[in-house]
Amino acid sequence: MSGLTALISGVCGQDGTALAAFLLRKGYRVYGLARWEPEAAEARLPSYLLQHDCFSFLSGDVTDGLFLARLIDRLAPDEIYNLAAMSHVAESFETPMATAQINGLGVLNWLEALRLHDAGAAVRFYQASSSELFGDAPAPQSEATPFRPCSPYATAKLFAYWSVVNYREAYGLFASNGILFNHESPARSPDFVTSKIVQGAIRVLSGRGAEPLRLGNLDACRDWGHAADYVRGMWMILRHDRADDFVLGTGRTHSVRAFAEAVFAELGVRLLWQGEGAREIARDAVSGRVLIAVDPALFRPVDVPCLQADAAKAAAQLGWRPEKTFSDLVRDMVRAAQVSAEGGQECVSNVYVQAA
Ligand code: GDD
Repeated sequence: MSGLTALISGVCGQDGTALAAFLLRKGYRVYGLARWEPEAAEARLPSYLLQHDCFSFLSGDVTDGLFLARLIDRLAPDEIYNLAAMSHVAESFETPMATAQINGLGVLNWLEALRLHDAGAAVRFYQASSSELFGDAPAPQSEATPFRPCSPYATAKLFAYWSVVNYREAYGLFASNGILFNHESPARSPDFVTSKIVQGAIRVLSGRGAEPLRLGNLDACRDWGHAADYVRGMWMILRHDRADDFVLGTGRTHSVRAFAEAVFAELGVRLLWQGEGAREIARDAVSGRVLIAVDPALFRPVDVPCLQADAAKAAAQLGWRPEKTFSDLVRDMVRAAQVSAEGGQECVSNVYVQAA
């Protein structure tokens, strides 16, 4: 047993549930924080966590700095993982103020609470920074690459990133940024393109009358890894002998189009692309049926063109390397979505968090 106590904000999300399960297996006492009321959180949390003796759920919001300060006082955590965020890049263009409050000032609230706390410097603080910080900077991107954020989501995360660095340097806090590239899993919400494609492919192939799957920018390239590898990386960042900032990613990049091809191939269908830009479609290469159509309404005002990690620093200093491949990810997501489509979502979430 580690005997350590961890506090995870944003515990109901893909990373929060997997990290909580990972830390419980390491013998931690885990407090999971989210803005949901307990009943709503219960619907989002896998029963594996809810039934665990060393897990407790707490309702609360990172935009309330005094609440965070009292929480640190009461729980005396050894580690804080700040995963709470407005995590939808497209939506941030519609809600820039709320995004800045949560993704920017929410992080400052944690840092101020730690600075003012007697034992604040002894608490290890992890900030969920993002490869979105790199924006349109040329790939591959490392810790040394200048940031070029392209969305209100990313500009708010940039403020948070530098606040973490500043509080570390000014006040000696143990505060680290994990600059994580896209990471997905069977627990990913269909608001994100990978899960949307997986669920959409199963739906569209389920019946001849089904509408084609509608997607936005097919040319965007992302470095997609498996979330299980990334929650392990978050923990490794906080167990490092000193606070620092680390890029985590696979080093490989694929377009949205290539991700769709891989998913349909996993389902036994080869796609044939036709047309360009807003008129591009993908047909079933055998039947000719239209399975995917581009919808310009899904284009973002500005999109990040290509993310590809150079995670050499994490490999050298933390010994972190992703264990799951792109093919593992696609296969896991497709299999889980097939089980879920047959009514086994709770089973999928539990299997996922326990495997993380
Ligand atoms: N969501 C979505 N839906 N994205 C689409 C679609 C669609 O129908 N069609 C094309 N895309 C493109 C987007 O324009 C983007 O270029 C790419 O697919 C990936 O979009 P998302 O899956 O929404 O993820 P993201 O890259 O914007 O952000 C994710 O990764 C970041 C790390 O790089 C999120 O998890 C962020 O919270 C995270 O910080």
